[in-house]
Amino acid sequence: MQDDFKKNLLKKYSSYETELILLGLSQDSELSLKLIEERLLLGEPLQYIVGAAFFYNHTYRVGPGVLIPRLDSECLVEEVIKVQKFGPYDLSKVLDIGAGSGCLGFEILKERKECCLTSIENSHQSFSYLELNQRQLNIKSNLVKEDFLTWFKTQKVHEYSFIISNPPYIDYEDQHIERMVKEYEPQSALFSKNDGLSHIMDWAKPIISLLKPDGIWMCEFGFTQKADLKSYFESLSGGFTLNWGRDLAGQDRYFVLRKKHE
Ligand SMILES: C[S@@+](CC[C@H](N)C(=O)[O-])C[C@H]1O[C@@H](n2cnc3c(N)ncnc32)[C@H](O)[C@@H]1O
Repeated sequence: MQDDFKKNLLKKYSSYETELILLGLSQDSELSLKLIEERLLLGEPLQYIVGAAFFYNHTYRVGPGVLIPRLDSECLVEEVIKVQKFGPYDLSKVLDIGAGSGCLGFEILKERKECCLTSIENSHQSFSYLELNQRQLNIKSNLVKEDFLTWFKTQKVHEYSFIISNPPYIDYEDQHIERMVKEYEPQSALFSKNDGLSHIMDWAKPIISLLKPDGIWMCEFGFTQKADLKSYFESLSGGFTLNWGRDLAGQDRYFVLRKKHE
């Protein structure tokens, strides 16, 4: 009966991730499969129901209040630790801004033990998952529960060799966003004003000032936002070079800003 249910679920939600989550499910006798199906039919994300999501090389604990790590974001980690098309990257002092479950920074740290990681997150609920995942993955990093722009005011400039961020970047008016995402995932992790670009634009100057010379800011954005971001960065006074990366689907997905030596 369990096997039939799993087969049906895999048919409906067929993906590598679903399979892995289901593998985890077999160890969880407390979850009633009937109840899971009922919640799925109501539109709740499978990852929230089972409390786990797979990202890159590890499983992350997730639940309401924290963004479910996305496959789209794996290309950033892949670029840092494997591809290095825009590298090399100095990962001695890394900052993950808007860390959520912790997936970006933690995956880098898992691969590069030399890295000293600080993860910053302002949402209370997301932060509790950040702590949980840090413990579960046996990671040593500094976790900061604060608004980035407030925290930034207390920091020294030229501190970080590498900054990674996946900020909220969806336009409030976006009509294409799935109902499941809109209804279940935290609005504060998804949406940003000014056509979805407020967070990136508000964070840009502080982030650049935190970078060491030759330091990198790698940032995810929405696949329609490249042209607007390009003009925004051209309007800044320079002092950096910019490259653009794509996700697995070939869509513009992230930029790599390298600060020039002064
Ligand atoms: C798109 S989610 C990304 C989460 C995670 N990095 C990932 O890739 O799955 C953006 C995250 O930024 C956090 N965030 C939004 N505004 C912030 C701020 N001003 N300071 C710190 N974190 C913020 C949100 O709570 C959310 O967890």
